[in-house]
Amino acid sequence: MACVGILAPGLVGGAVGAVCTRAVSSRLTPSTVRHLTLSSTMKSNRKTDHLERTASVVRREVVAAAKVCGAASESPLVKSLRLLIADKDFSFKAGQWIDFFIPGVSVVGGFSICSSPRLLEKERMIELAVKYANHPPALWIHNECALDAEVAVRVGGEFFFDPQPTDPPRNLVLIAGGVGINPLLSILKYSADLHREWANKRSGCEIGTIKLFYSAKNTSELLFKENILDLVNEFPEKIACSLHVTKQTTQISAELRPYITEGRITEEQIKDHISNETLFYICGPPPMTDFFSKQLENNHVPREHICFEKWW
Ligand SMILES: *[C@@H]1O[C@H](CO)[C@@H](O)[C@H](O)[C@H]1NC(C)=O
Ligand SMILES: *[C@@H]1O[C@H](CO)[C@@H](O)[C@H](O)[C@H]1NC(C)=O
Repeated sequence: MACVGILAPGLVGGAVGAVCTRAVSSRLTPSTVRHLTLSSTMKSNRKTDHLERTASVVRREVVAAAKVCGAASESPLVKSLRLLIADKDFSFKAGQWIDFFIPGVSVVGGFSICSSPRLLEKERMIELAVKYANHPPALWIHNECALDAEVAVRVGGEFFFDPQPTDPPRNLVLIAGGVGINPLLSILKYSADLHREWANKRSGCEIGTIKLFYSAKNTSELLFKENILDLVNEFPEKIACSLHVTKQTTQISAELRPYITEGRITEEQIKDHISNETLFYICGPPPMTDFFSKQLENNHVPREHICFEKWW
């Protein structure tokens, strides 16, 4: 399952998993590497290239033209882009990433999509949130990318949530660190879309409950917190979140204070959600991802219920 967000040269990714909803037994193979953010820890150039790192990961064949039709600053370090993709052959599953081809830039980026597949179906749009990194695709997005710029994209990755109408509803626990929120936000938004459709028409997929644990350095790096809290407020019986900050140096604003915990996501919190029927999706820096996936395995969660992707 590949997940991830921002790419950069050192991104590595992760792991692979399985199509969780089908309960296919999958092995976590260390092949998917993705970049999310740039890392100061790149020690060698080997393996730093997104294409090389993800060479064995499943990709779609379609390379689609995409046009930048919106950009915004999500935090001091993260810029979001909206891309218009007219090509109807382009589609993706919640949690997947794209190869990002920029004219005139020889390095290919790899970024997780953070929007719902429904936004693409309805408006032909996808959204990305890319952290600043000293890597050509991230630099281009931060410094050069302008409205109407044209790029090309191709979908890939094995970290996704794609329930089928015949599947029983499954509870999800999403665990995000930093920009690892990107693919999990896509899964969260898509689940909310499915639930709206189910509530309105009793058709499509019935979803279980979703609990998001999301940790970032401080409240400005907790991306999309308003979107997340809006979904929690819209579906209080289905969606819950626990937002964490680990290095907050300023006072947390009064509006946010009730939703934020200072300190890491703990083992105990996750343990409270373990059941046979729950699927776990984890995307964050490698030590965090390793920690929680190991902890879940130690608590007898079947491997095929643990989907993760690493980045750095
Ligand atoms: C969070 O950290 C970033 C980077 O160090 C800093 O620019 C920003 O001001 C901090 N925000 C808050 C709310 O402390
Ligand atoms: C959950 O797993 C336990 C232990 O493997 C098993 O005894 C139990 O029947 C399972 N429950 C369901 C609902 O599958």
